[in-house]
Amino acid sequence: CSFSTLLSHDPLSVSVGFSIIGGLITCKLVPEFKESFIKAKLTGKDLAKDDKEPPIPECMGVICATVYLVCMFFFIPFPFMEWFSGKGKISQSEEFHAPTFPHHKLGEFLAAMLSLQSMTFLGFADDIFDIRWRHKLFLPAIASIPILMVYYVNFGVTHIVVPIPLRFIFGRIIDLGFLYYVYMSMMAIFCTNSINILAGINGVEIGQSLVIACSIAINDFLFLNDADPAVEAHLFSLYFILPFIGVSFGLIIYNWYPSEVFVGDTYCYFAGMTFAVVGILSHFSKTVLLFFIPQIFNFIYSCPQLFRLVDCPRHRLPRFNPSENKLEYSRVKIQKPLKKPASFVLDLFELLRLVKVDKGETSIEVNNFTLMNLLLLKIGPLHERTLAILVVVIQILASCLSFYIRYHLVHFFYEV
Ligand code: UD1
Ligand code: MG
Repeated sequence: CSFSTLLSHDPLSVSVGFSIIGGLITCKLVPEFKESFIKAKLTGKDLAKDDKEPPIPECMGVICATVYLVCMFFFIPFPFMEWFSGKGKISQSEEFHAPTFPHHKLGEFLAAMLSLQSMTFLGFADDIFDIRWRHKLFLPAIASIPILMVYYVNFGVTHIVVPIPLRFIFGRIIDLGFLYYVYMSMMAIFCTNSINILAGINGVEIGQSLVIACSIAINDFLFLNDADPAVEAHLFSLYFILPFIGVSFGLIIYNWYPSEVFVGDTYCYFAGMTFAVVGILSHFSKTVLLFFIPQIFNFIYSCPQLFRLVDCPRHRLPRFNPSENKLEYSRVKIQKPLKKPASFVLDLFELLRLVKVDKGETSIEVNNFTLMNLLLLKIGPLHERTLAILVVVIQILASCLSFYIRYHLVHFFYEV
């Protein structure tokens, strides 16, 4: 798309402006609120640093999300500006044929805001009360109800086009009906929690989210051509993603190694929900999920611990070795005799060379099943900053692969 096409979409320029302003405000507010967070005991210990380091302010994601929401509130009128400026108004003679104000678009926008606001609220509650895993897993499904409702009213499309290789079983189109709504709420659960479990070292939560957000934005820009029927949907996505990129940049300045603040679950939930909202309401949830390849791997790899087939300690982040100032893979001790599912998983993962098992007399020790521990197992101990850069680089490479799949390999699966 040409530069002039970009400029002709006026609300987009305003959105870019709000993103920059949002970034600058976040950048200014975070240090100002540090003391207040410490006073309110919203702090956490940096587990990959010396024991003597004082606790640092946690759940600063709430500042970033609040600035985002305020920017979005101010932005609401802009996509509808032509209706206020007279261009959208119509003469009496035209009244019966002229288009009416797009209430459905406004509804979509407001529902998306409501979902994001609820997610931020529930994420903040989780940071304060440390909600148990089996409960907090479902918070995003609750927060996604407003967008599912608006999806039902505005689109209601619940059929999917089956990939070519599977058509001999299912046919060309399947109507998932109610299951489609289950799929969309599962997507919200996955996007939020998968970011939250690829966490624990400085800067990595925002680092991965920024790469995913930029990938979504690049994908949107590829569609910004007046001739494309999906232009409206991709503009909607950009209005939500650009300010997210702005505020995340404002926060990562303080969260990158060595962190002055932690982002908390509030940020992970807020980020994941932003991606789920644009994926669902702009109809490209599969493309969004493609940008989650590292998170999908980390989730599948984590499953035995998440579903308690193998013991799961409260923290699975890598272990800090103060003498070398490096991170090593962390391990979990499992008492013998092993239950059948646990020994099956360990044998399978050992076969795939995904774990290192140390067998003792009464117990065995194995690395925690996370992507970061696996990297440390394969490469050896790394400095915290190097590991964070490595995770971000992997995320970028995965995005390149996703674009390749989306725009080249897609021909094997769909006729586009
Ligand atoms: C998830 C992970 C957990 C991981 C934790 C780290 C699962 C099932 N849960 O739990 O294994 O240890 O995230 O975020 O995979 N922290 C640091 N450095 C950082 C960021 C966080 O030391 O850069 C520590 C701090 O002590 C902070 C705490 O992690 O207080 C935050 O953990 P929290 O987000 O509450 O953990 P969960 O999301 O429940
Ligand atoms: Mg967390």
